This record gives sequence, C-alpha cells and structure tokens, in this order.
Amino acid sequence: MGNGYHHTPVMVREVLEGLLVKPGGRYIDATVGEGGHAEAILKACQPGGRVLGIDADASSIHSGRGRLKGYGDSFLTAVGNYAQIGTICGQADFHPVQGVLFDLGISSRQLDDGVRGFSFQREGPLDMRFDPSQELTAYDIVNTWSEVDLARGIWSYGEEPRSRQIARALVAGRPIKTTLDLARLITEVARGARRRIHPATRTFQALRIMVNLELESLKAGLGQVIEVLASGGRLAVITYHSLEAVIVKAFLRQEFRGCICPPEALICTCGRSPTMRQVSRKAIAPSQEEITANPRSRSARLRIGERI
Ligand SMILES: C[S@@+](CC[C@H](N)C(=O)[O-])C[C@H]1O[C@@H](n2cnc3c(N)ncnc32)[C@H](O)[C@@H]1O
Repeated sequence: MGNGYHHTPVMVREVLEGLLVKPGGRYIDATVGEGGHAEAILKACQPGGRVLGIDADASSIHSGRGRLKGYGDSFLTAVGNYAQIGTICGQADFHPVQGVLFDLGISSRQLDDGVRGFSFQREGPLDMRFDPSQELTAYDIVNTWSEVDLARGIWSYGEEPRSRQIARALVAGRPIKTTLDLARLITEVARGARRRIHPATRTFQALRIMVNLELESLKAGLGQVIEVLASGGRLAVITYHSLEAVIVKAFLRQEFRGCICPPEALICTCGRSPTMRQVSRKAIAPSQEEITANPRSRSARLRIGERI
C-alpha cells in the first residue's frame, strides 16, 4: 500500500511470470478492481502492449482508470461480469489475447468499505453485491429465504458446521438489518465453541457467494477463456478458498485431458482433444515474505494453464 490504493495485489511477480507477459502482448484482467495487477502487466507489456480490465464493480473500475490514466489507450475497461467474458471481448474487439488473469473474490477496498456490507467487523447494510445495480442483496437472502434454504446455503458455500443452528437463529432474529446485527446473532450461536476464525467468517463467505452467484460465474467465465486465448496464451487464476479451487482444478484437468467421456468408458466417443497444457503440477502459493507483509495473501493459490 502507501500508494493511496486500498488493495495490495497478490503474487504479482508470479502472475507476470505465469502469464509470460511480454512487450506488445494483449492481456485481459478479468477482475481488474483498482488495477494493481493491471498496472504491473501494463508496465511489463510496454512498448505496444494493451490490457482490457473487466470488473462487475463500476466504482473499483473508476478508481483503476484514474490510477492507470498514464497508459492512455493501452488500458481499456469494461464494467461487466466475467461470466460474459467472451461477449465483452467480442464487443471490445479484444481477442485473441496472450493472457487472461482471474484474481477471484473480494478486494480490500470492498471489504473495508462498511457501506458495501461485506465485513462482519464494520457496521453497514446487508448488501454484499459486487455489482450494485444487481437486485439481489444479502438482506433479501437473510430475511426472506426459508430456514432450510439458508441452512443449505450456509453449509454448501461456507462449509459451516453449525449451518442449521445459524439458519434457525437468523429466522428467529428477523428482521436483521445490518452486518453487525448478523455477526452478533451468529456469534451467539457459536458461544463457547473454540474457533480459529471469527464465528461469522463462514456465513459471511456463504452469503457473498450466493448474492453474487460466484461459483456459477466462475464456471461460465472459465468456459469461455479457451475461445479468447491465442495459441500459446496463458490463463492464470488466483483462488482464495477451496470451493473456488475445486472448480479451477476440475476445469484445468478437463482441458488438459481433452476427453470428457465417463471414466468407465472403454473407448473415447466424445472426440475432444486437449485444449490446454499444464504449466506447473502444483498450485503456486505466496512466499513467506509476502504473507508477512500482506496477511490477506495467506490463502491465495495461483494455477496456470497454456492454450495449445
Ligand atoms: C481480489 S479483487 C481483484 C484485485 C485486483 N487484482 C487488483 O490487483 O487490484 C477481485 C475483484 O473481482 C471483482 N469481481 C468479483 N466477481 C466478479 C465477476 N463475476 N465479474 C467481474 N468482476 C468480478 C470484484 O468486484 C473485485 O474488484
């Protein structure tokens, strides 16, 4: 930090190396936020290189544009959901590209802004939308969903062992208006339990994922990356929790393998061949030095594939 921007980009060196950023190349930052990674990519692809930054959050894009205005026409932006990355690139006539980056989840800018309603440590409305023009908010889910649906969602997307008790407490505590009211109710349920993390962490994660249809968007976005990558182009994805990682691993495994016939099939009938080549066997983690300097990087894992 210290540059006036909230968010410290994660594993910047590893991303630049993973994407093989070079002068004159064309790159997409599908989660551009305030432009931390985009700035590094733009710097590394000069002269002649260009970056298209996409984000669902118009105010983050606005901040990123201000930061990168010195790059002129080399930095393009699109407010939109990466679930439509193919259409967005088509409209901007920005393909094929040499690299695509997804840095998933939430930025520090969004987390630290109480009004956005993402944090259980800051008073704010129950909002949690990346795209504030979207209708569904966390308030709607918390205050209108059935106890069964709430419990299922908190379990599936938060992996919260007390999902049923929490869902019961939420239904009994309605109307729940603010982030801190919600956090207090969840903390009551978890009273006496030994926890490594704040008792509301998993429920807040689940709500954020449900409000923004994060896992569906990720699957949709990855599915279109093959079309926009040039041959030899690289895909880099940074995940922050296991639900994201499972989707990215399954996608890469399928593209490395090609064939999508069921494992019990004796011969291949799908006729698909691999579209990507594996670059490193294991996910790349941040260095200890980076984790010390930026504890929020601790859970980040970077996976890379190369378009054949
Ligand atoms: C971890 S931040 C990215 C930070 C950025 N790499 C940087 O260095 O500043 C994730 C960003 O992804 C955006 N985002 C999340 N889901 C999205 C989606 N489905 N489509 C587009 N943007 C999304 C969020 O609004 C947020 O700005």
